[in-house]
Amino acid sequence: MSFAITPATMADAPAIAAIYEHHVLHGTASFETEPPSAEEMGQRLAKVLSAGSPWLVARSPVGEVLGYAYASQFRDRAAYRFAAEDSIYIRHDRRGQGVGAALLAALISACEAAGFRQLFAVIGGAEPASIALHARAGFTMAGRMRGIGRKHGRWLDTVYMQLPLGPGDSAPPEVEPE
Ligand SMILES: CC(C)(COP(=O)(O)OP(=O)(O)OC[C@H]1O[C@@H](n2cnc3c(N)ncnc32)[C@H](O)[C@@H]1OP(=O)(O)O)[C@@H](O)C(=O)NCCC(=O)NCCS
Repeated sequence: MSFAITPATMADAPAIAAIYEHHVLHGTASFETEPPSAEEMGQRLAKVLSAGSPWLVARSPVGEVLGYAYASQFRDRAAYRFAAEDSIYIRHDRRGQGVGAALLAALISACEAAGFRQLFAVIGGAEPASIALHARAGFTMAGRMRGIGRKHGRWLDTVYMQLPLGPGDSAPPEVEPE
């Protein structure tokens, strides 16, 4: 399948919301249960972009959004400045065709360029496809929280995976967080 990876724009918010809606309603990767509206997704997109963090989309040759990936600071507190968490969702009927792998590779480069030193995947429901996707990109296991979620009548684990970026924690940053 042919596609191009580009930064997301605000005009992509409705397509992104539509992709995410399927996974919220039918999957366990997200612990959300109410799909956010296109307007709410636009606000999430604007927040990530205004923080200088990457939000990428994969587009078909006719401009359809096939999937998206973004990263943002792991938690707001200052000491987390160099740790990011990724999110990646592929349109449900376009999975298994290389879009996720390409988006994740591009996101890793963008996170490194944004100055992050560690990238975390927080994998709801310990989804095997997401674990395999991240392992293939070089992430290693960083922990597992058992039974932390409940959705669709099941107890769900969350798996953490981690990828060092650039020098990782082997060298201090150029500027200490304040
Ligand atoms: C997980 C997800 C992002 C993967 O994207 P994708 O475009 O379907 O994956 P790709 O076709 O690029 O495959 C890349 C790798 O992912 C793994 N993978 C993808 N689908 C898989 C499946 N059904 N079972 C096991 N591994 C799978 C494989 O390691 C694959 O590499 P390979 O083809 O060399 O074996 C996508 O399936 C998705 O959106 N799933 C639902 C939401 C989700 O779990 N998001 C992650 C949140 S942390």
